[in-house]
Amino acid sequence: MSLPSDAFRHVASRPHEPLRTFHPRRAPLGRDREDALARLWPRFGFSVHDDAHGPMPRTPDGMLDVRALFGRDAPLVLEIGSGMGETTAAMAAVDRGRDYLALEAHLPGVANLLGLVEELGLTNVRVGHGDALDLVRRALPEGSLDAVHVFFPDPWPKARHHKRRLVQPAHVALLRSRLRVGGTLHCATDWVHYAEQMLEVLTADPGLANTAVGFVPRPAHRPVTKFEQRGLDLGHEVRDVVVRRVR
Ligand SMILES: C[S@@+](CC[C@H](N)C(=O)[O-])C[C@H]1O[C@@H](n2cnc3c(N)ncnc32)[C@H](O)[C@@H]1O
Repeated sequence: MSLPSDAFRHVASRPHEPLRTFHPRRAPLGRDREDALARLWPRFGFSVHDDAHGPMPRTPDGMLDVRALFGRDAPLVLEIGSGMGETTAAMAAVDRGRDYLALEAHLPGVANLLGLVEELGLTNVRVGHGDALDLVRRALPEGSLDAVHVFFPDPWPKARHHKRRLVQPAHVALLRSRLRVGGTLHCATDWVHYAEQMLEVLTADPGLANTAVGFVPRPAHRPVTKFEQRGLDLGHEVRDVVVRRVR
């Protein structure tokens, strides 16, 4: 099995594929992350798109075999766009009863999280490299998630790029269908316009109910990441929305 250098690039650029919600980036891994990838990918990582680069375990009907992936049955938290993985690692470390599936399109982020998994001795984290929406659509069954986390998704601030935003009605309906009834979808952003859009889209979905009136106060269990700190340094205000699947 080879490592996932560009495992999803050719797939994501096919013209008939849905629009990407992420910027394809090429960034050097650096020695530590290359090392983390070489040692830890076979145990904790898998490729969303390319079976040659760490196939994901599948059930006979082609779905992601979560039980084989984690080696147990536990409530599953999906994090979309885990970035460098600081939030995933910190939340999973104090929530060992649930399993955390982090999905990230940017390989250095995947490698960084693998390093954190080792450093903190986490057994309840697995990391998928590639387009999270693609995996959710094709390989996660309805009602299989306890929670979905979408923290600081790419803001796509230009109006002509808003169609690339992760939080939009079709994606929210998809994520809601994969949550169990009672499961939560938690989104956060430091872009005012995106925050308003999140609140509007998440509360407009008939299967979701807001857990607060408007935004929720910043939950203490969500650590501040570099992305968030960069926004705060620019004077941005951070907003969290948490909705629950009700039907
Ligand atoms: C602005 S960063 C925030 C990272 C992290 N959540 C944090 O708070 O620090 C957004 C991340 O989402 C990833 N991303 C966006 N769309 C994605 C998708 N469809 N599948 C996987 N990752 C995605 C990007 O590669 C990027 O690393």
